[in-house]
Amino acid sequence: MHYFQYNDGLFTGVETQPMSQRKILVTSALPYANGPLHLGHLLESIQTDIWSRFQKLSGHTCTYICADDAHGTAISLYAEKEGMTPEAYVAKIHQERLRDFGDFHIDFDNYHSTHSEENRTLSESIYLLLKEKEHIASRSIAQAFDPVRQIFLADRYIKGTCPKCGADDQYGDNCEQCGATYSPAELKNARSTLSGATPVEKDSEHLFFKLSDFDAFLKQWTRSGTIEDEIANKLAEWLDAGLRDWDISRDAPYFGFEIPGESDKYFYVWLDAPIGYMASFKHLCERRDDLDFDEYWKKDSHCEVHHFIGKDIINFHCLFWPAMLRGSNYRAPTRVNVHGYVGVNGEKMSKSRGTFIKARTYLDHLDPEYLRYYYAAKLSNRVDDIDFNTDDFTQRVNSDLVGKLVNIASRCAGFIKKRFNGQLSASDGAPELTTRFQQASHTIAGLYENREFSKAMREVMALADQANAWIDESKPWVIAKEAGKDEQLHAICTAGINLFRLLMIYLKPVLPEMAGRAEAFLNVPPLTWQDNHTLLLSHKVNPFKPLMTRVDADKVTAMIEASKEGEASKEKQVTATPAKAPAADNWLTKDPIADDITFEDFAKVDLRIAKIVKAQHVEGAKKLLKLTLDIGGETRQVFSGIKAAYSPEALMGKLTVVVANLQPRKMPFGISEGMVLAAGPGDNNLWILEPHDGAEPGMRVL
Ligand code: 2FM
Ligand code: ZN
Repeated sequence: MHYFQYNDGLFTGVETQPMSQRKILVTSALPYANGPLHLGHLLESIQTDIWSRFQKLSGHTCTYICADDAHGTAISLYAEKEGMTPEAYVAKIHQERLRDFGDFHIDFDNYHSTHSEENRTLSESIYLLLKEKEHIASRSIAQAFDPVRQIFLADRYIKGTCPKCGADDQYGDNCEQCGATYSPAELKNARSTLSGATPVEKDSEHLFFKLSDFDAFLKQWTRSGTIEDEIANKLAEWLDAGLRDWDISRDAPYFGFEIPGESDKYFYVWLDAPIGYMASFKHLCERRDDLDFDEYWKKDSHCEVHHFIGKDIINFHCLFWPAMLRGSNYRAPTRVNVHGYVGVNGEKMSKSRGTFIKARTYLDHLDPEYLRYYYAAKLSNRVDDIDFNTDDFTQRVNSDLVGKLVNIASRCAGFIKKRFNGQLSASDGAPELTTRFQQASHTIAGLYENREFSKAMREVMALADQANAWIDESKPWVIAKEAGKDEQLHAICTAGINLFRLLMIYLKPVLPEMAGRAEAFLNVPPLTWQDNHTLLLSHKVNPFKPLMTRVDADKVTAMIEASKEGEASKEKQVTATPAKAPAADNWLTKDPIADDITFEDFAKVDLRIAKIVKAQHVEGAKKLLKLTLDIGGETRQVFSGIKAAYSPEALMGKLTVVVANLQPRKMPFGISEGMVLAAGPGDNNLWILEPHDGAEPGMRVL
């Protein structure tokens, strides 16, 4: 057997080989400072935090850093809407972030901002090095300009009709319908989303990073164990197609860093964003004697740099970023770990359905460790999307953590306290099972290391099942009633507490707070991974207190409801679209947070022709008319906001299309039993159907 025994603080037994200590720098993608954190951000920070806590628990020097991504046009527009300067706006967001991440127990060693002096200095020096080595080119480009707002328009601020498939309302860089990519100039009927004006073309001198200078390096780097094969294969398509120069400059006005040696030119947000990883680390090094910036970032560094990112920003982290580092004589990342998107109840996060769940809304209702465990139980090292299914979440957390894990301790703790004054016995009543649990540490550690968290959770829960089955067979509650069996009872319950302790060690990266409560109960200093070699024998534990309460399904429902309410009012204020990564590939860049519906959703809508048999004014209502509709043998009362376009008399006998299966809604003037559809820009420009041969009330509209 390969473990220490922990006899009231004294270690005995056979020591395993000392581990070699790694120096690891870990990052999560820097979230844009443009709004509240949501479940999508949390997937990444929880994944990174679990991995980093595992490394720290294993005795490695691991430093987890992050920062707000503070620059770009989107952020200055958000600030403007709030009547704030961009600086004040990002400072406000920063404080909210620190609180939200902290409440989810994300253990950053530093959380900085890209709008910092460290980042300015590093961005300037990296750029100047790239320029000195002739990796920067300059040329004039024609760009869309908003003549009303007097600013150059990023592709995301231009919408129009796709030149390939004719789909309307597409962004200036790619079509979400057919996946085509194009320049804003190719878009038909282009308009600025900021002012509605037709953009004009204006020439401007821009600076480009010559990415193709790094073609050979990137081909080698992407195939050297730095990224999963499925991502490397995708990148190979782009690499094989030939790399294009990357535009790294933006014209004033722009919230960012001015480019040295140029006038009125700023670094594009994506140039200084990844440098923000270095800047956040530098900011930390300045306050910590044990960390040396150059040791981690010099070209031949033996330290490791691990990035955790979402699949929409692969091109930035696996092409531009390593090339920039290479060109400025820094080391490239050791690994880029890519995860998928989060959906809620099988759908993309949607503001109207209440599934766009903000970190703070979650925290107002539920324990953050439920989510940490649920994500861990779902995460693998692949790019698959993760579904936060509310029923599965409730069931999984209650069954695994409360029903299995806590149960082991609570079944044994009472006897230890009442019958043995809190003292554990000198011998373990289940040596074989204990050894099996200890030996599992290698498998579980390997799974954590490879980010196979769902498999790790499965291993731990399989052990928890074995522990519970063993307690069932040992029947301490029967033995407790039998005379002369005290020693046996003591050994069984001591074994149960030790099995629980081993599982708690394995779950500590995921459940740090619960582990803290377990440590208080066990009366031990903070557990480390190596502690799995020891057992707690002849040791006094503290009275047992509940370690985790069950998920209350009503609170989950309340959280969804609160998400609906919270967003309904916000949606009205936000008109600017946050800047997204330029689309490189539809498969990778589809917006995870959109209110699109699937065809199945659409098919659920029961659209029928209805005849307006009566239309009346509603007392006290400025916009509404009360309509009585014949929808084919059934009469419905619907309140509709079309008073500005039609007098009640003009509507009588007209046909309209009605959503017949909308849940009845209570309005101040009565119940509305459906929704009437009219077309047009609004106010007095709205049209409904004229009576038409063949169109009968009750007909379905397909
Ligand atoms: O996509 C995003 O949210 C970016 N703000 C991520 C930046 S990661 C890094 F490069 F800074
Ligand atoms: Zn198209």
